[in-house]
Amino acid sequence: MTRTGSASGPRSSWNHIEHGREVVLAGMFGALALALPVVFHMLGMGPVFLPMFLPILVLGFLVSPRVVATVGVVTPIVSALLTGMPPFFPPIALVMAVELPVMGCVASVLYRKRGWNIYVALAAAIVAPKLLVVPVVVAVSQWLELPPQYTSLAVILYGVPGIVLQAIVVPPAVYMIERRLGWSRPGELAAKRRFFDKAAAEWDETEPTSTGKDDAVEAIMSSLDLRPGAVVVDVGCGTGHSTRRASEQVGASGLVIGADLSRQMLCRAGDKSNGMNIAFVQATADELPLRNECCDAVLCYCAFPHFCRSEVFLNEAHRLLRPGGRLVIGHTAGGEAINRCHRNIGGPVGDDLLPHAGRMIDLLEKASFEQVNVTDEPQLYLAVGLKPCRDNQAVM
Ligand SMILES: C[S@@+](CC[C@H](N)C(=O)[O-])C[C@H]1O[C@@H](n2cnc3c(N)ncnc32)[C@H](O)[C@@H]1O
Repeated sequence: MTRTGSASGPRSSWNHIEHGREVVLAGMFGALALALPVVFHMLGMGPVFLPMFLPILVLGFLVSPRVVATVGVVTPIVSALLTGMPPFFPPIALVMAVELPVMGCVASVLYRKRGWNIYVALAAAIVAPKLLVVPVVVAVSQWLELPPQYTSLAVILYGVPGIVLQAIVVPPAVYMIERRLGWSRPGELAAKRRFFDKAAAEWDETEPTSTGKDDAVEAIMSSLDLRPGAVVVDVGCGTGHSTRRASEQVGASGLVIGADLSRQMLCRAGDKSNGMNIAFVQATADELPLRNECCDAVLCYCAFPHFCRSEVFLNEAHRLLRPGGRLVIGHTAGGEAINRCHRNIGGPVGDDLLPHAGRMIDLLEKASFEQVNVTDEPQLYLAVGLKPCRDNQAVM
């Protein structure tokens, strides 16, 4: 099946998009944190389920500490002003304005920044603010001579159903949102690096992506349309099979840069490639240490589904290409077979799936590629897109 698409609008900076997404998420989850307590109260379930905590906790796993701290402070105060819940006296709104940001920040730091397991980070996020807040609450409540539910262990026990709800709801909700947003899971990259470092030792003996697949390899390499002197970046180059092929095509006056996450793959690639026109760099596909418009072609040979943030890689490819340059994503089997193979291997690559042709066209067009063409046949998956020339500029 071959499908084609056409041009799309201007490309924006990924950092701005990411920041914009954090702000949108903060708005959505802040609004949810205001609305959920009202709904729970209408259903007669009251504060025992800690409904305001739920959205703030999910938000903590998705955004930076700064963003979740802001939402965590503001939400209980706004809610108290609008609905009288939580009340200012006894000063539960103020206590929550401390507890919620601490909880969100702990989740954000441990999960997003330190890459902790989500359940361990969740347990810490639930316990840490209680350790901080409960002694203060009990002391202040005794001082104010409040009823026993504010002055004893009941402060903790009261919220137990809410904590159980958090443990059930938060991890699946975070995973679902990450998947929909195309975000990588913390720790995912390290797991993949370990996987490919280990695979590197055997990779060349089996050469699973090229052995006996000459026609598909030829179709992928020729769609790069390389001329002598061209510069190519081969992302996810592994042990350098495709890098060496491309280097023959560009000749001594050209240059091929192989980039890969795995140091072990690159060591083997370096050992095998003694051409003067080849260089290697250890880097991830979503953050390539190369300057704008430095190459004529970006090749991604049997590697695209493994990239944690594949949409960001497409933006990177677009950034590296000169106007008129082309991106080629190729596999020596169809999408269905590749996806089945990855699912069977499981582990860190079990979810690494090639998008179907229509979705790949959408992704390439969203990254501002033009003349997009995607082929998905049993023996070949090939996606090609061109970076548009500037006005009055012809393709070289
Ligand atoms: C299936 S291998 C293919 C290697 C090579 N292109 C070939 O066909 O022999 C996928 C390669 O992508 C690399 N890789 C996976 N995730 C990556 C990432 N986020 N950034 C850069 N390289 C990555 C792996 O280390 C591995 O070498």
